[in-house]
Amino acid sequence: MLGARGGWRALRRCASLPRAVRLRVREALGAREAAAAVRVQGWVRSVRSQKEVLFLHINDGSSLESLQVVADPSLEKKDLTFGSAVEVQGKLVKSPHRMQNMELQAETIRVVGPCDIWSFPLKMKERHPLEYVRQFPHLRCRNNTLGALLRIRSEATAGIHSFFQDNGYVHIHTPIITSNDCEGAGELFQIETSREAKESAEKTHFFNVPAFLTVSGQLHLEVMAGAFTHVFTFGPTFRAENSQSRRHLAEFYMVEAELSFTESLQDIMQVMEDLFKTVTSTVLSKCPRDVELFHKYVAPSQKGRLEQILKKKFMIISYSEAVEILKQAAQTFTFKPEWGCDLQTEHEKYLVKHCGEVPVFVVNYPYDLKPFYMRDNEDGPQHTKKYPKQEQQEEEDQGAGTLLTFCLIALRKVAAVDLLVPGVGELCGGSLREERLPFLESRLQRLGLTDTYQWYLDLRKFGSVPHGGFGMGFERYLQYILGVDNIKDVIPFPRFPHSCLL
Ligand code: 4AD
Ligand code: MG
Repeated sequence: MLGARGGWRALRRCASLPRAVRLRVREALGAREAAAAVRVQGWVRSVRSQKEVLFLHINDGSSLESLQVVADPSLEKKDLTFGSAVEVQGKLVKSPHRMQNMELQAETIRVVGPCDIWSFPLKMKERHPLEYVRQFPHLRCRNNTLGALLRIRSEATAGIHSFFQDNGYVHIHTPIITSNDCEGAGELFQIETSREAKESAEKTHFFNVPAFLTVSGQLHLEVMAGAFTHVFTFGPTFRAENSQSRRHLAEFYMVEAELSFTESLQDIMQVMEDLFKTVTSTVLSKCPRDVELFHKYVAPSQKGRLEQILKKKFMIISYSEAVEILKQAAQTFTFKPEWGCDLQTEHEKYLVKHCGEVPVFVVNYPYDLKPFYMRDNEDGPQHTKKYPKQEQQEEEDQGAGTLLTFCLIALRKVAAVDLLVPGVGELCGGSLREERLPFLESRLQRLGLTDTYQWYLDLRKFGSVPHGGFGMGFERYLQYILGVDNIKDVIPFPRFPHSCLL
């Protein structure tokens, strides 16, 4: 987005030129002085024709606010309608209107591209619901809400890159087509050439081995962390989960970081928390009006909550504590909480609510629940737990019917962490990685994966260091900070059955 100062510099540079200076709407609105010859291009958001004056509002996507154009009614034309593309030339002057700084007094108005308002699905001055505009993926970006969302998405993307670059991370483009499946991070999309798809009888592979769209760049990042210490990637990720849920996408963006010489999960959580807070503060300060729109019309109480969250430390609970909390809940769950079972969405929601609707880190998950690369916590605390066990007393004459005894239960865990947030559930997932060759070798052997992961074992043979990392779902991040219910409303192009963009 262009700053007002940049535009004015351009204005001064071009002051002697005969042609009017072209300004973006954002620059024109932020201008501090009047200017005699200015040219603005954009799409008409409103037309109001009065006896003595014609008012237009022009938007070019550079800001939520449109620029008011004041013109003589003689400049009105039949095809100057809502939705049409126009170029307006005239004087930029201080606006007498309290709500805006500057306005454009038009001398010429040229309709660059007319718009048939009767068949155009967006209507002037109407607040269309997100569900309605989702039907028009090719046009919805001209709507205020989606416009605001896409500017926020752009700023958040830049904020994520700045966060990592400012903290000494090297950005790595990890492959999108890969043969590794990150060990069950999600269901895979297998790729083949169109010829292979047709010749289904005898399967050949373009790369000689089956290839997939990436589910995570983590393993490739681990390679790079072995040379650059701190690395990150931020790109498209694919999961073939046929889920229509409001928090799952088949194609989404994931931010992933990997840190070498890191021995504690605490360090990984600190980066997750810093990333969240820094990027959110950047978005709030760079797009205040865009964010305000969401906090006013989409999720009215989100603003205050977010401001509070930015000031507080995120909470940390262990997986075992989480299970105890769930077991003691008055609520009945569809999936009964049990140590050793995955936390379901209903559990995540309850935990976040129990903790006061704030982000919560859940750490140290059961070993058997997590992929092979997560670090065995055998050298950590609470590896086993005294667990109450009820035994039936046989000897009735001894009195009491039951006796409470204790048994020692193995709670083998890995140094894994999930960050849960209100309304969305899991926002980030990460862990310390198993850097010890014998541990990794025996785990891979048990899984029958030794051959496949020879290269990964090599990383532990040649200068292995304690390290860890995490991934954050970008769409879930936007969903959370803006309070958007459906994840399909935070992506540029929703997949819709009747979309021309499928
Ligand atoms: O928890 P996940 O599966 O973690 C990994 O893939 C790790 N290899 C990342 C790492 O350690 N480098 O995915 C990370 C995050 C989730 O917490 C969630 O926010 C998001 O990615 N995510 C999805 N977002 C939208 N739609 C889906 N289908 C998603 N699946 C995961
Ligand atoms: Mg996960």
